Amino acid sequence: MIDSPAPELAVSGLERRGQGEPRVLAFVRGGLDHLSPEALRAIRAELRGLGAELVVVSPDGAWLLRPDDPVEPLAAAGDALAAEVAASAERFGVSAGDDAVFVIDGRGAVRFSYRLPPEAGGACARLASALAIAGRTVHARDRHDPRQRVLFTRREWTVTCLVAGCAAAFLSCKEQTHRPADRRPPPADETPPDLDVTLTINRKPHQLRIDPRTSLLDALRERLGMTGTKKGCDMGQCGACTVLIGGKRVTSCLTLAVMAQGKDITTIEGLAGDGGLHPVQAAFVAHDGLQCGYCTPGQIMSAVALIAEGHATSDDEVREQMSGNLCRCGAYPNIIAAIQSARRSRG
Ligand code: FES
Ligand code: FES
Repeated sequence: MIDSPAPELAVSGLERRGQGEPRVLAFVRGGLDHLSPEALRAIRAELRGLGAELVVVSPDGAWLLRPDDPVEPLAAAGDALAAEVAASAERFGVSAGDDAVFVIDGRGAVRFSYRLPPEAGGACARLASALAIAGRTVHARDRHDPRQRVLFTRREWTVTCLVAGCAAAFLSCKEQTHRPADRRPPPADETPPDLDVTLTINRKPHQLRIDPRTSLLDALRERLGMTGTKKGCDMGQCGACTVLIGGKRVTSCLTLAVMAQGKDITTIEGLAGDGGLHPVQAAFVAHDGLQCGYCTPGQIMSAVALIAEGHATSDDEVREQMSGNLCRCGAYPNIIAAIQSARRSRG
């Protein structure tokens, strides 16, 4: 099955999800029934390394896990789900009573499969170890032969879609304006033309002419001089570049600027009002929630959103919800104290 197209996974709730994204598919008896916070943290860390989402299916339910989002139930237990899971497992060659993990790349091909040993701990702990094995195997294979990359990263997938979209638009334009004898594909190395975009940042419109491959992060920092948003990994893994789009947290290094048109973008520069610092900014100062300060703008933007979402009800929940924002200085205890204090002062 390795390197061949993945069989169809016909589980209700999954039909239109994750098209073109790397995915880990896990058939796990008992599902996520005993998912501890430690196991969830371990699973999310592995998903972050793989740049993939995880779909867990079992007769007891189906769930979608992403590195930085709450666990999303997709389907509830029942005869219909049991039949769908059994049929899908058969297509993947998983016998009844077996647990197995499959890594499927952004092009829909199976790149790794692994049967979970039955004896080693609970289902969720076994799942976390299987993901760790998948991560090591996948990255070792990438290092050995980069041309055979196992997974598209989210960034690569976005850029690939954009380039494919530009190519399609270019070809359709050629079709309308040239005689059939003139039709030729564009040269492979042709740079896409610049685009005029208007970005609404901190309630003000900004007009830019940009390469359509420009990330929102680069548009902010390099084109608009808004350097409050930081560039850490530039790969979607550290959270330093977090901004809000429509009030939701996004990593701006993985967001194309053209995709943010027509939406309300809020950066760290837009938080403080006439009355002074935003309450979360003030709480970070009061609780000393920073050391070098490099991660701080991203931490604050995430904190603002998670408080607004009503997620910061316990320290554990704050840790979980902020797990996509890394701090090399380890200022975590003070960051949590600052967020809880800002939440309490909000009432
Ligand atoms: Fe965007 Fe690290 S710079 S997540
Ligand atoms: Fe230095 Fe977080 S305060 S990286």
